[in-house]
Amino acid sequence: MRTRRLPATHLDEAARLLREGQLVAFGTETVYGLGADACNGEAVAGIYQAKGRPSFNPLICHYHSAQAAFSHVVPNALAERLAARFWPGPLTLVLPRAPECPVSKLAAAGLPTLAVRVPGHALALDLLAAFGGPVAAPSANRSGHISPTRPEHVLEDLDGRISAVLECGPCPVGVESTVLDLSGETPVLLRPGGVAAEALEAEIGPLQRGAPPGAALASPGMLASHYAPALPLRLNAETLLPGEALLAFGAPLPGARIVFQLSARRDVIEAAANLFEGLHELDAKAATLELRGIAVQPIPELGLGLAINDRLTRASAPKA
Ligand code: TXA
Ligand code: MG
Repeated sequence: MRTRRLPATHLDEAARLLREGQLVAFGTETVYGLGADACNGEAVAGIYQAKGRPSFNPLICHYHSAQAAFSHVVPNALAERLAARFWPGPLTLVLPRAPECPVSKLAAAGLPTLAVRVPGHALALDLLAAFGGPVAAPSANRSGHISPTRPEHVLEDLDGRISAVLECGPCPVGVESTVLDLSGETPVLLRPGGVAAEALEAEIGPLQRGAPPGAALASPGMLASHYAPALPLRLNAETLLPGEALLAFGAPLPGARIVFQLSARRDVIEAAANLFEGLHELDAKAATLELRGIAVQPIPELGLGLAINDRLTRASAPKA
């Protein structure tokens, strides 16, 4: 697959590709984002695949208005204030997911929170409006590489791995958005970025910089068991033990009463899209069904299989 360069006038084509579940890079005021339909789990899995990331980091969801963003999270007074002052603009707010939030669990790497922002870039906003839903987008670079601020940078890293890049010119801000966690009691600055911390403090008072002492969520992907299910996980299971539910990959092991199928056709992209859904669902059933644990069938260490196994290994680590 060659990556198409779409001139800005072809914005409707970019929106159409997103609706089809394709990956489309687009410019924002900060850096180019690698976009996918946030509500389509397989499209979101494609982002991790294209970036070559060996683990699932939570992604930012982009919206065309604060109203649209706040329909998928539970905003508080501080969020409303900051949105009124800084959106559209380079500020990302982490808030609890709304109960009926349709965004794929994979986009937030299974966390109960969601990072949302309204980018301050006319073309990005037009694309979001034309698409008509949230777009999950990390920076459009390969894992470990520098964030791109021009379409050429995106192609250097991702040509042949994504459907298209919408040419939105150079990014005026050039550094990523500021990430502020408003899901706890005190606001926590998780990543400095395009909006200065001082500007946020002028609006809402003192921020905690980095994680509060003793807290473990500074960088969600780093903590071994950060959203581990309550049930113990047993990886690479070849048989089932009594009282175990099964997280299946391919033909299910015989004898399980409760099965969640990650991918019957043994497709790691489909399995990634279903992973967090499956863990949550089996965990929810544990309470009523007296389950002892979750057995996980072997998943190949290929492509997204690496990230899936990384996540499952963390989730099976003893809880701190
Ligand atoms: O400027 C930007 O923010 C760019 C453009 C494309 O919007 N995007 C970007 O995405 O930088 P990414 O994936 O490279 O960085 C996302 C940051 C990470 O530090 C991630 O840990 C944090 O946001 N994040 C996302 N969801 C989170 C959540 N639910 N809780 C805590 N942190 C979260
Ligand atoms: Mg990045």
